[in-house]
Amino acid sequence: MKNIVITGSTRGIGFAMAKEFLAAGCRVTLSGRGDTLSPEVQSELSRFDGRYQYVPCQVRNLADVEHLWDASVKTFGAVDIWINNAGQNAPHAFIHETEERYVRAAVETNMLGVIFGSQVAARGMTRQGHGAIYSMEGLGSNDMIQLKTILYGTTKRALTYFMKGLAKELDGTGVIAGRLSPGMMLTDFITKTPDGAVAAIQSDPHFKKIFNILADKPETVAAFFVPRMLKNTKNDRQIAWLTGGKAAWRFMSAPFHKRTLI
Ligand SMILES: NC(=O)c1ccc[n+]([C@@H]2O[C@H](COP(=O)([O-])OP(=O)(O)OC[C@H]3O[C@@H](n4cnc5c(N)ncnc54)[C@H](OP(=O)(O)O)[C@@H]3O)[C@@H](O)[C@H]2O)c1
Repeated sequence: MKNIVITGSTRGIGFAMAKEFLAAGCRVTLSGRGDTLSPEVQSELSRFDGRYQYVPCQVRNLADVEHLWDASVKTFGAVDIWINNAGQNAPHAFIHETEERYVRAAVETNMLGVIFGSQVAARGMTRQGHGAIYSMEGLGSNDMIQLKTILYGTTKRALTYFMKGLAKELDGTGVIAGRLSPGMMLTDFITKTPDGAVAAIQSDPHFKKIFNILADKPETVAAFFVPRMLKNTKNDRQIAWLTGGKAAWRFMSAPFHKRTLI
């Protein structure tokens, strides 16, 4: 029975992966910034009682991340898979119009959080002699530049560089590092602004059209990622849901296959 830790797993793809790992028989430590999981999430997880726990963790704080590792080891033993999933979007705006608090939230969550998470997991896993560390890629990871998203894109481009480097550093230790590439998903990340309001992008007809063609529910993506992570033994592996081929097929078949996510 594998022991899994997922940062940012109170909702979205993190929560969907937690449910998928639990359904596969694993033990999961979920985490997020709040003190507890919401009552709705708790009731959704009730059939897995005894195989999961919630540990608060603000990934911008190293001490929180260390506590997340320690709490998981204490309850479930060695950590087999650690996923740096917690992420922050930034307002859809030019960088010269973006306030300092959004810059800090995106950089500190998406970069510091991934670096702290990887340090803590790599230290613990090299001591154990085994384990896998994954981080969640996003727009920018492939070097594509899109206006008004360069802050977020910079953090995800850096994440990819960092994870490739981490894989090289871990070579031969028995610990592996890899990347998850989810494409576009229907989560709060897209439908809400970083402050929780309805995202203006939802009423942009061009965005809606592309999103409805390319995006998926997080549960669909989690069902793809989880068995592959459980099976993977290869270092520096990228597990990609929305490949170029799949995206091209979605565009070609769009006139015959209507999809309405938003
Ligand atoms: N949605 C997409 O289309 C998409 C596409 C590509 C990549 N991604 C990536 O996928 C990951 C998850 O995104 P999502 O779409 O599932 O977003 P989401 O629904 O907004 O969920 C984000 C999760 O991260 C947690 N979180 C945010 N800031 C945190 C922090 N500083 N410390 C700890 N936890 C934090 C949130 O928990 P609390 O609020 O409870 O703290 C929540 O559980 C992110 O890394 C994102 O960049 C998303």
